[in-house]
Amino acid sequence: MKKPLLLLSALAALGSATMPADDKPLYMDPAQPVEKRVDDLLARMTLEEKLSQIHANSKFTTPAIPRLGIPLRWLSDGPHGVREDIGPDTWKPQNRTDDFATAMPAGIALASTWNPEVAYQVGEAIGQEARARGKDIMLGPGVNILRTPLCGRNFEYMGEDPYLAGRMAVAYIKGEQAQNVASCIKHFAANNEEFQRMSINVEMDERPLREIYLPAFEAAVKEGGVWTVMGAYNKFRGQFASHNDYLLNKILKGEWNFQGLVMSDWAATHDTKEAALNGLDLEMGTDKPYNEFYLADAYRDGLKDGTYPMSGLDDKVRRNLRVMFATGVFDQRPPGSLNTPAHQAVARRAAEEGTVLLKNDKAILPLDPDKVKSIAIIGENGIRLHAHGGDSSGIKAFYEISPVEGILRKAGSKINVTYSAGYGKEIGPDAIDRAVAAAKNADVAVIMGGLNHDPGFDCEGHDRKDMKLPYQQDELIRRVVEANPKTIVVLFGTIVEMEEWIAKVPAVLQTWFPGMEGGNALANILFGDVNPSGKIPCTFPKVLADSPAHKLGAYPGKDGTVTYDEGLLVGYRWFDTKKVDPQFPFGHGLSYTSFKYSDLKLVEGKDGTGPVVTAEFVVENTGKRDGAEVAQLYIHQAKPALERPFQELKGFKKVFLKAGEKQTVSIPLDLTAFSYYDPAKGGWIAEEGAFTVRVGGSSRDIALTAPFKLAKTTLVKR
Ligand code: BGC
Repeated sequence: MKKPLLLLSALAALGSATMPADDKPLYMDPAQPVEKRVDDLLARMTLEEKLSQIHANSKFTTPAIPRLGIPLRWLSDGPHGVREDIGPDTWKPQNRTDDFATAMPAGIALASTWNPEVAYQVGEAIGQEARARGKDIMLGPGVNILRTPLCGRNFEYMGEDPYLAGRMAVAYIKGEQAQNVASCIKHFAANNEEFQRMSINVEMDERPLREIYLPAFEAAVKEGGVWTVMGAYNKFRGQFASHNDYLLNKILKGEWNFQGLVMSDWAATHDTKEAALNGLDLEMGTDKPYNEFYLADAYRDGLKDGTYPMSGLDDKVRRNLRVMFATGVFDQRPPGSLNTPAHQAVARRAAEEGTVLLKNDKAILPLDPDKVKSIAIIGENGIRLHAHGGDSSGIKAFYEISPVEGILRKAGSKINVTYSAGYGKEIGPDAIDRAVAAAKNADVAVIMGGLNHDPGFDCEGHDRKDMKLPYQQDELIRRVVEANPKTIVVLFGTIVEMEEWIAKVPAVLQTWFPGMEGGNALANILFGDVNPSGKIPCTFPKVLADSPAHKLGAYPGKDGTVTYDEGLLVGYRWFDTKKVDPQFPFGHGLSYTSFKYSDLKLVEGKDGTGPVVTAEFVVENTGKRDGAEVAQLYIHQAKPALERPFQELKGFKKVFLKAGEKQTVSIPLDLTAFSYYDPAKGGWIAEEGAFTVRVGGSSRDIALTAPFKLAKTTLVKR
């Protein structure tokens, strides 16, 4: 079933074969600078050829131009691996046998590692698999900010903090693009709910736009060098994001000098004039015959009669060609690899480092395999496979280790493991009774609960209705822990309310959607072969109503518009400024060992270049196990001229420490770290005055503080 791949190489071969070897055009010469190659190729293209490269000719391709050696170009979802092949003209999978991939943990799990090195490795592995699967552009990572716990796609994204999301995305992109595959940062911008996702209009002030919703994209462009950007479905200030003059022309291409291509989300293009003029370079997924795409016949007519300038078309084509050259389309590209032991190890490492130990009273975890004789696993997520779910980010995994399988592999014959469904869509009325009986008969009960990818939970296209655990799980957990106090709750999916049972349950793990190695990773953590080191990249509110957008009635919007009334106060910025106690604060996550922070020093920069100040402090592993701690640095400004959140994350470092070991951590801070966006000045300012540098293991577990003064106000260049 290798046909399309063969076809692809046949077309490529045909392309070069049609060009006489002794007359090799300049653009085919890898020694030439990319811009020269782009100009040379562009000059050889006809109007029709140019138009063919700025809109799709199937769900995920643009056509080859054999005469010029331009191969068929393949795009593919997505952030968690290379999606199965779809189409060509429908959303139906092709049911091929060669389109499996390694399923990585979901974006929010990756963000929970707080480890850019892991993000790099994930990007790298996906890039290698994309090469092996013949894909040129991978549609990820996604960095839309978690504004409401209900957004159906929170699982794909990197949490509520723009700095953390930016660091993780930059590393991921660098890893992936080093494999001659373009990343696509998505969805640009302000795509923070799935409710009316194809049409909702988002209104917000300039400061939240600049400080909360754009920085991860900005980092992806400026530091990650991302080659493609996907416009979002929603409108922003009344204009569709995929052809939004302000977002695309002014900010992305103007201020940030983005040189790559902007594609639409699939069926996010609505108008030829706006698509022509407002910064869209590649139209994908429009629900019409391909020649009726907005950038096809209608655009051609407008170009011919002078409505649209030819220079606009050339700019779009140039951007498309630039990405082709950047990804080595015309040169020798490495063949890539699939499902290697190295990729599996990356998937497992990301799952292990991304799993968060939320609670662990009396060190009930890890389980001692020599003492525990029986385990009752309870809950559908014990056997349920998630990798294929969630819609566009789903992966046809080579395999997927369920929690039950992972635990059985580890427990061997020494431990008696039972499984009881406990909850689920289609189980009998006595399911809870049976689970309780199983729990009573076991040394330890492990409830594998939380959400899944069913529509209405963590799934594209819809938001959740509430933040509750579905399928009577609250009751299940309450009754199981009553029957067996040694109950551990493992939560899959995104944020849920825990108020009903959290005080009674001694240990809780948040494992999100951990990818195809998830069961192994979980077993490693439960039995202590791996010490948990993840931290939540989002605040867990006690109840939904505590969450800012909900508290203010600013979700899901009215009459087609949602206004972000909470402004800058998203996630912990709200909870900390308004002094609301969360269930678990942003950045929280426990370990099987303990850490001590000490000796915070602020070392001032000398000559005005480099960091203005470097925070230095010591982190010590004071327990008996090796482990890793994510040291976090927040900045508080005493008296800003404009209101600011109480504190903002501006640095972090994951430190791996052997038992008893200590290490000095250095976090350099430049002026950007102290600055905020001043709409009146149209730029970022770092104000003179007093700041506090706050360091600790979570946003609410600040161990060290140090005062810092900026002597003068500076307009900061980013
Ligand atoms: C999603 C994108 C995805 C695209 C292609 C859209 O519905 O919003 O994230 O990349 O489909 O599958």
